[in-house]
Amino acid sequence: KKIAVFASGNGSNFQSIVDAVKAGTLAADIRLLVCDKESAFVLERAKKEKIESFCFSPKSFHDKEAFELEIVKQLKSKAVEFIVLAGYMRLIGPTLLQEYPEAIVNIHPSLLPAFPGKDAIGQAFDAGVKVTGLSIHYVDAGMDTGPIIAQKEIEVLANDTRDRLQERIQKAEHTTYPEVLQQLFMQEKLISAH
Ligand code: GRF
Repeated sequence: KKIAVFASGNGSNFQSIVDAVKAGTLAADIRLLVCDKESAFVLERAKKEKIESFCFSPKSFHDKEAFELEIVKQLKSKAVEFIVLAGYMRLIGPTLLQEYPEAIVNIHPSLLPAFPGKDAIGQAFDAGVKVTGLSIHYVDAGMDTGPIIAQKEIEVLANDTRDRLQERIQKAEHTTYPEVLQQLFMQEKLISAH
């Protein structure tokens, strides 16, 4: 399966996907990293792993449609079939959704539909919930709203801090995301766009 990973920041989930491919537990070919931030650490990870990246500055485009058209061009040139969002801090617009219907997935650090949007872990921690977790879902036009594929619960412990909770959620993300992607590919539950 030819995939592109989209990320905007640290890229620890990108790394876990790369590591799963290298370990042979995820049958995917990471054709491209797409990144919207020149200072993102994920770019260094890609370089080290010899994975090609396409980094763009949204400000230098007229609008979302313009940069998504450029992204589509890049994806097509690499014959990308599926898009894996991993900390990509932007809503996906109609241009990409039309080109990759049912072929885009995202990971979000809460039990959706609870705590969508930014700082989901902080939101859950501040709300005082006893259980939070992570969700993997298909992407639609909304903010973390697409159909849910898989979830994993993580307990909030009595002596937790926001940071400790984040550490446990992210650790779970790093094992769960590659596993769920592999299941999706095996069960043909992602529809290849090309
Ligand atoms: C992850 O917690 C993911 O769930 C969310 O953004 C974070 C990205 O972290 N969508 P990283 O860049 O993969 O380290």
